[in-house]
Amino acid sequence: MTKKVKKIAVITSGGDSPGMNAAIRSVVRACAYYRAECVGVYRGYQGMIESDFVTLTARSVNNIINKGGTILRSARSKDFRTKEGRKKAYENLKEQNVDGLIVIGGDGSFTGGVVFNKEYGFPIIGIPGTIDNDIFGTSHTLGYDTALNTAVEAIDKIRDTASSHNRLFFVEVMGRDAGFIALNAGVGAGAEEILIPEEDLGLERMLESLQKSRRSGKSSSIVVVAEGDRSGKNVYELAQYVEDNMPEYEVRVSVLGHMQRGGSPSCFDRVLASRLGVKAVELMLDGTTNVMVGLKDNKVAATNLEKAIKGQSSINSELLRVSDIMTT
Ligand code: F6P
Repeated sequence: MTKKVKKIAVITSGGDSPGMNAAIRSVVRACAYYRAECVGVYRGYQGMIESDFVTLTARSVNNIINKGGTILRSARSKDFRTKEGRKKAYENLKEQNVDGLIVIGGDGSFTGGVVFNKEYGFPIIGIPGTIDNDIFGTSHTLGYDTALNTAVEAIDKIRDTASSHNRLFFVEVMGRDAGFIALNAGVGAGAEEILIPEEDLGLERMLESLQKSRRSGKSSSIVVVAEGDRSGKNVYELAQYVEDNMPEYEVRVSVLGHMQRGGSPSCFDRVLASRLGVKAVELMLDGTTNVMVGLKDNKVAATNLEKAIKGQSSINSELLRVSDIMTT
């Protein structure tokens, strides 16, 4: 029988995302509601190793639901990848009488949690927080909706100047391994072409499409490129390639970068964070471990943590088709 959890630690780990604060708030308030103690750890796993703890009460999380970033700060800890680092983290948690850990982060953070659980049997529950939306077992990760809206707003602004100058813009959005932001922001902002890591449509196809749209009377265009697209060229090389092959176009590049990770979370992300935080605490207090809480068919549901890490969240092929039709 599993020991009853009485004190829960919460960390934010990996790349921050809007909605992480709302999730911390939800975890802390759910702990208070169920009369469990809650402790925050600064800088993710690194803070566990360096014993950087803070007691969190319901009042510690006032006025953070609307804030971007994470009040607990975040880190990608190299030390936690070592046995010694994890041992130190375990000892520090024990010293604090912590008996369960909620990890708000992406798949790298969950991998650390799974290893930690295997070595020490420490109960772990994950809450998916990354703007990339690349986690299996949830339709939405925390911060994805906000990042999409940020990207669309930025591309809308680029469109204003693109059409004023008859220019072609390549806009790079985040997504090292996943094209969710590119595909959805691209469709939402009316991009001519969308290049994503999941599919290599070929450079020829892009040229043909741009030529076709030029012939059909379009004088400016926007191509949205995911950071990790598979064309084999970075966004500047892509721009050069088009300029070399289509001198009639004046080409510019805009890299949106980390601004996509900041800002006040959307209402969707705040509600999602509130739901996932409560569920994570309830599951942990019930003795469940090694799961990630996520959204499936708009219901909060748990997925085995290893499955969440290994599973592939697939790109919506219907959206690719819609994007194609919209370029007519
Ligand atoms: O959090 C995910 C992500 O934003 C990716 O889209 C991006 O490639 C990466 O993080 C950037 O990481 P860093 O902030 O460490 O440069």
